[in-house]
Amino acid sequence: MKTALVTGITGQDGSYLAALLLDKGYKVYGIQRRSSTISTERIEPLIEEGVELISGDLIDENSLIRAMEKIDPCEVYNLGAQSFVPTSWDQPILTGEVTALGVTRMLEAIRIVNPKIRFYQASSSEMFGKVRETPQNENTPFYPRSPYGVAKAYGHWITVNYRESYDIFAVSGILFNHESPQRGLEFVTRKVSYGVAKIKAGLQKELRLGNLEAKRDWGFAGDYVRAMWLMLQQDEPDDYVISTDETHTVKKMCEVAFSRVGLNYEDYVVQAPEFFRPAEVQLLIGDSSKARKKLGWKPEVDFRGLIEMMVDADVERINNMIKE
Ligand code: NAP
Ligand code: GDD
Repeated sequence: MKTALVTGITGQDGSYLAALLLDKGYKVYGIQRRSSTISTERIEPLIEEGVELISGDLIDENSLIRAMEKIDPCEVYNLGAQSFVPTSWDQPILTGEVTALGVTRMLEAIRIVNPKIRFYQASSSEMFGKVRETPQNENTPFYPRSPYGVAKAYGHWITVNYRESYDIFAVSGILFNHESPQRGLEFVTRKVSYGVAKIKAGLQKELRLGNLEAKRDWGFAGDYVRAMWLMLQQDEPDDYVISTDETHTVKKMCEVAFSRVGLNYEDYVVQAPEFFRPAEVQLLIGDSSKARKKLGWKPEVDFRGLIEMMVDADVERINNMIKE
């Protein structure tokens, strides 16, 4: 039985990846940081199915070494991060500690405990920032526009560097935005799907958003964790862009979400200055042809299917809340 260790297991991707790995017969361990409230909401059913949690933090090197010594994993997926872009302007140093240096701490732990461990780093299309070319592929230069994007660029390059310096099987997955009903409530797709459900139920009157013209290449998280796993099953470590290769504005996403429940977004969406960013990433669209060719990966859920899935899930959640 293969053993995997996942940081960020309590997050959106962590929940989908843990489910996939269990399905493939892995013994799955996750690193959970200490919190005064319960953070395992997304993975409760998976804990029932055998996922085990180990206390640790990407800021605490020794906790990572201890976790790897205890578990002896063959694969490590580093999904843990301060992942919300606006927070990275409020807490740039924390973001650097967790999202950038956290990667080095993971790689050092691997180097110390067992350099044969295969390592996946959750890199991001946010590194492309003020895009240098369109669409963006593995060779497109980075121009990050947020402290988060800068931290991820560091994480990417330290992963490449440990691969080249120490011959570690370390890969960087440059994933474009991916969403699901498990997405955090502050990210725009979920903010919209949850807002739509509340408005439809008469619990909210308007939805305050920022830049409606920004374009993103949105895919489904369930499809994207498959790509993470595939990257670690290859003969040679390499870096891959994962995307749908389609882009849509936030406005279009709102239109699809509201129309799912028979509403017109223009009657409810209000542009609010507090949700604009100090520096914006206006356009992201990936070119995932390398992953499609070499990994045999392709997304199964399209943009409309994704947004409708999210709205339907939130409508059901709100209806259940009302009934209780
Ligand atoms: P998410 O839902 O925000 O989850 C982040 C995870 O990181 C949570 O489990 C969180 O734990 C954990 N974490 C935060 N600080 C930590 C620390 N100091 N030590 C250990 N764990 C810590 O993010 P996601 O959407 O699943 O994304 C997963 C990864 O992919 C992240 O690295 C993200 O930056 C990257 N990524 C995401 C996307 C996307 O569109 N989703 C695209 C490209 C790259 P708590 O539950 O305790 O907060
Ligand atoms: N969050 C949010 N809230 N974004 C808004 C809002 C709003 O009210 N209104 C407009 N937007 C715009 C943002 O300005 C941005 O251009 C776009 O919607 C997407 O914002 P987010 O959903 O917060 O995602 P992100 O693109 O900044 O970052 C996500 O994707 C990255 C990959 O490109 C995160 O998951 C990152 O962790 C990930 O690396």
